[in-house]
Amino acid sequence: LSCGVVIVAAGRGERAGSHAEGPKQYRRIGGRPVISHTLDLFVNWPHARHIVIVIHPDDAALFETARAAALPAGERLTVVHGGPTRQQSVLAGLEALPADAVSHVLIQDAVRPFVEPAILERTLAAFQHGARAVLPAVAVADTLKRADANGNVAETVSRSGLFAAQTPQSFHLATILEAHRRASASGRTDFTDDASIAEWAGVRVHLVEGSAGNVKLTLQKDIAMADQRLSHGLP
Ligand code: C5P
Repeated sequence: LSCGVVIVAAGRGERAGSHAEGPKQYRRIGGRPVISHTLDLFVNWPHARHIVIVIHPDDAALFETARAAALPAGERLTVVHGGPTRQQSVLAGLEALPADAVSHVLIQDAVRPFVEPAILERTLAAFQHGARAVLPAVAVADTLKRADANGNVAETVSRSGLFAAQTPQSFHLATILEAHRRASASGRTDFTDDASIAEWAGVRVHLVEGSAGNVKLTLQKDIAMADQRLSHGLP
């Protein structure tokens, strides 16, 4: 079992607003770009045989600065260009993995810099037990409401059995590559995560425990909180 990693970083990050430092994956938290933190976790993970980073063609200079702020990955790192949707960016990354050297792949959002090694170890254990698709997730804690068009509560939705999906979402490489190619050939480009492509292709997705700290930096306030967390050594 040898693992490849695809880190997708080709988004424009519009929900976080525009910023002089560029899209949110290049914003500085704890003094370094978000993506350099994410990259370090995988460079440090002994099972990562190869890492592909998917960037936007306009971000080459931003990425070089971020790479210089991360641990050196040397020959293990390949950089490719993404597409207009996350799904298309992931497929570009999967196609760039050395398929002869890698049996499984972990697909990670660049904007989740706090993934814990324990999640990677749980993923590996699930692979060793034969899973072909592994999803870290946390049980939904809040009571859920569906709203109507006027901003009033239409109903309360049971949270029983509901989980929030995180990344890395991890797969047997040949299985997810085939599912992705089929999804793309069918004209779909709007899957927002890779587990849903596996589900669409009929692959059973195994849940492992995610972590509350493994947040996705989406809005400006998420970036500010992440910066505080690192700058003040908060957990
Ligand atoms: O847009 P969203 O928040 O779902 O993005 C999740 C991750 O996917 C981010 O790291 C973003 O850079 C990446 N992405 C991408 N290519 C796109 C859109 C998003 O690599 N076209």
